[in-house]
Amino acid sequence: MLEGPALPWKVIKLGLIGSTQEKAREYLASGHGAGTVIVAAGQTYGSGRRGRSWHSPKGGLYMTASLRPVGEVGLVPLMGGVAVAETIRAMANIDAALKWPNDILIGGKKVGGVLAESGWAGSKIKHVLLGVGVNLNNPAPYWLPEATSLSEELGRLVDVESFLDILLETLDRYIPFLESRPELILSSWKEMSQTLGRMVEVTDVDGEAISGLAVDVAPDGSLLVESGGMIRQVVSGVLELR
Ligand code: BTN
Repeated sequence: MLEGPALPWKVIKLGLIGSTQEKAREYLASGHGAGTVIVAAGQTYGSGRRGRSWHSPKGGLYMTASLRPVGEVGLVPLMGGVAVAETIRAMANIDAALKWPNDILIGGKKVGGVLAESGWAGSKIKHVLLGVGVNLNNPAPYWLPEATSLSEELGRLVDVESFLDILLETLDRYIPFLESRPELILSSWKEMSQTLGRMVEVTDVDGEAISGLAVDVAPDGSLLVESGGMIRQVVSGVLELR
């Protein structure tokens, strides 16, 4: 049973900056360790997965938390997605869903994303940066028809500070599970999954496209796809639902 917060969070709130990921790296380099959370009012070059950019005007939540690399690091992005989806449910009573590995969806449209970045010392991971971007009061980018924002879904504005507080509390609950009960992270993810049981096409890191039925997520967070009578394991990639 968990007692108390996993980390004493040290939240640093900034205005318009380049990217909270970049700022978190700078803070780590200057001795601010695990538990440091960088929050920005907006970002000029927010980064997304696979080298994409993350549109970050004022009104959204943009944060990066520095975590100790405990337990199964491959589950950090899934845990981030679960925590954001639970926060949306708690704040707005809306059923958010998850698309592998860590897109947060409302009604099939992307409302938020998670970026997990490991910092290495030789062959050991020394920290993990968990970046979270959620469209809250900012309109979703008009050029992405498959995107939405929480305020557009609710028809009202959302309190960004409260969202951050609940998200950090939720992360506090889940972080110890990385080490002690990873199956709880996986079961929460599966419960909110919009991927499992669906036909998907995943393009892996080498650019290979695998089409098939998403059957499960392995204990390390990789996706298991049944394709051509075989089970293929995809560690990282871009997924489209068919
Ligand atoms: C994705 O591609 O879905 C992940 C997007 C992650 C964006 C967040 S916003 C806060 C943090 N800082 C960044 O530059 N990126 C992440």
